[in-house]
Amino acid sequence: MKKVTMNLPEVKDYRLTEGLNQLKTNLAFCGKDIKVITITSSVQNEGKSSVAFDLSKTMAEGGKKILMVDADLRKSVLAAKYHIQGIDKGLSHYLTGQAEIEDIIYETETEGFYLSVAGPLSPDPTSLLDSDQFQKFIDKVREDYDYVIIDAPPLGVVIDAAIIGKYCDGAVLVIEQGVIKRKVVQDVIKQLKRGKVRILGAVLNKVDERIGAYGAYDYKYSYSYYGDSDAEDRH
Ligand SMILES: Nc1ncnc2c1ncn2[C@@H]1O[C@H](COP(=O)(O)OP(=O)(O)O)[C@@H](O)[C@H]1O
Ligand SMILES: [Mg+2]
Repeated sequence: MKKVTMNLPEVKDYRLTEGLNQLKTNLAFCGKDIKVITITSSVQNEGKSSVAFDLSKTMAEGGKKILMVDADLRKSVLAAKYHIQGIDKGLSHYLTGQAEIEDIIYETETEGFYLSVAGPLSPDPTSLLDSDQFQKFIDKVREDYDYVIIDAPPLGVVIDAAIIGKYCDGAVLVIEQGVIKRKVVQDVIKQLKRGKVRILGAVLNKVDERIGAYGAYDYKYSYSYYGDSDAEDRH
């Protein structure tokens, strides 16, 4: 297996570490049937990729074998953002028959943390993800890893909850605080439920620390986790 190198910012923020650990613990309590987890949101830029990446890394550091799959085939910034080097084949290569599963999984410098990137932009990402090929990929990696974390496109415009529901055991919804209207979030939750996707929790991201902070403000890199938000609807 090929190995990639990354240039990662050191995570120093206490609240970020705390939030991630909480999310990790909550997911572990969801039971061992929950292995393939999709991270999604209402719109782009709410922090899906950041949450997916940091969560995967945290879980790997906790001793699990993790595969993070960058499945946001329209907007993949992963490789550039983390200065990942050494990748030549991505998910879109595999989904279009240009690579095998083993060609698109890379080992990272963090033990237990494996990665598949999106690959070159494809003209029809939805149909690529709604395919037997993608199903085959998920079936295979489900066997090989403790958790598969899928960095998915935002719901609604780009991908249907029903498509996501076919592959994963549950989803975590990332919500950017203060930007996304309650109604939009409710619609996304409705879509997920209609698509029979179990909602494992929501991450409130980019929590604004301005309140009570003497006018100085700063977007803290922290997550608040709202597990069990959907408890009453579980079957
Ligand atoms: N908690 C946070 N605090 C500050 N900036 C953040 C936070 N989470 C994400 N970002 C930034 O917001 C932008 C969008 O995040 P990203 O994870 O790429 O979102 P998405 O994958 O949902 O499009 C990036 O520039 C990222 O660095
Ligand atoms: Mg992203």
